[in-house]
Amino acid sequence: MTYYDFDMVHERKNTCSLKWDGMDGRFGTVPDDALPMWVADMDFLSPPEVINAIRERALQGVFGYVHASVSSFEAVAGWVRSIHGWDIQPDWIISCTGVMPAIGAAIRAFSRPGDGIIIQPPVYPPFFRIVADNDRKVVENPLVNDQGYYRIDTDSLRPILEDPGNRILLLCSPHNPVGRVWRKDELEQVGRMCIETGTLLISDEIHADLVFKPDRHIPSASISTDMAANTITCISPSKTFNIPGLQTAYAVIPAPSLRKGLQASLRAASIGTHNVFGLVASDAAYIHGASWRELMLEYIRKNRDQAVSFMREEMPWVGVRPPEGTYLMWLDMRGSGLDTEEVTERLIHKGRVVLDPGYWFGKEGSGWQRLNIACPTTLLEEGLKRIKASF
Ligand SMILES: Cc1ncc(COP(=O)(O)O)c(C=O)c1O
Repeated sequence: MTYYDFDMVHERKNTCSLKWDGMDGRFGTVPDDALPMWVADMDFLSPPEVINAIRERALQGVFGYVHASVSSFEAVAGWVRSIHGWDIQPDWIISCTGVMPAIGAAIRAFSRPGDGIIIQPPVYPPFFRIVADNDRKVVENPLVNDQGYYRIDTDSLRPILEDPGNRILLLCSPHNPVGRVWRKDELEQVGRMCIETGTLLISDEIHADLVFKPDRHIPSASISTDMAANTITCISPSKTFNIPGLQTAYAVIPAPSLRKGLQASLRAASIGTHNVFGLVASDAAYIHGASWRELMLEYIRKNRDQAVSFMREEMPWVGVRPPEGTYLMWLDMRGSGLDTEEVTERLIHKGRVVLDPGYWFGKEGSGWQRLNIACPTTLLEEGLKRIKASF
């Protein structure tokens, strides 16, 4: 296997990086040497195959409009088949500029203003925004927190799904920020309830490739033909290969009527296109990126275990569980005895480390923080030291 250097620290300051250069905008003035451990992107280089493909394309020097050919969709389908065992057809795939643009387009296509869209906080903050910004109603079915291990509250979900005003369930699978990789029986139960109540399932699987053994991501739509017919699955190479700035994602939709509806909605918003470098990177990543992904996951798994041990030994008042998937850790800091703003203030100004405040993910996240561990281990160690020093 090729050797990839995940230990190398790459200077990202002054590169238009949201994570490194965008902290002031979100948190007020942060210290110059603050260490960013927020925003879900990685501090690793993308796979060399991806970098080389982009370099070659850049050297061609012509950057006209892009046409995604069948071979690109075959690359996506090949990846999904080999990594997740879901046998999808290239013509089920629609390309778009991001998972959130696809979700927004799906909401507009398959619900009307005022309809309820169900989300399960604590959850990725733009889930709230995309519903509200499209004049739909955010309907919350909070996850159950069983001592840091989260599950879907299917008892409370049932009557919410039965309300005819609620049209869509937006599922985060694996779940950001709690790191759960939903099991087959959990997905099956939710999927069945959606079918029985005529609720569309949008399954955001952007973190699908970031799952640690022995857990395994199961695409919701792969579970049965009925679920396939009622599901829009959103995937992207962006998290896996650290290319979110290239704005490339895919919706996988076996049902022709759903596919047509989403295509029309993307066209109406003129967002169903690709960036030339996004497409080139996606092709290279999905065709050549499997061994890089394996090694990246192994590296992050070690970071995860190290961070969990650190918290348990050095900060035992912090509640922490190893995430089953994603490179995000969900830290219960309510034991600090401080209010939630004070915790953020301490981290940023005393510790000089920036995490995502948990209340961004819904009121259930109040007192929690989300830590991004996809970085060289030396940076992680420095970040953990700073978190400890904050208190
Ligand atoms: C669950 C989830 N969905 C979507 C996104 C963003 O997707 P995109 O940048 O393709 O819109 C993220 C980014 O962190 C995410 O965690």
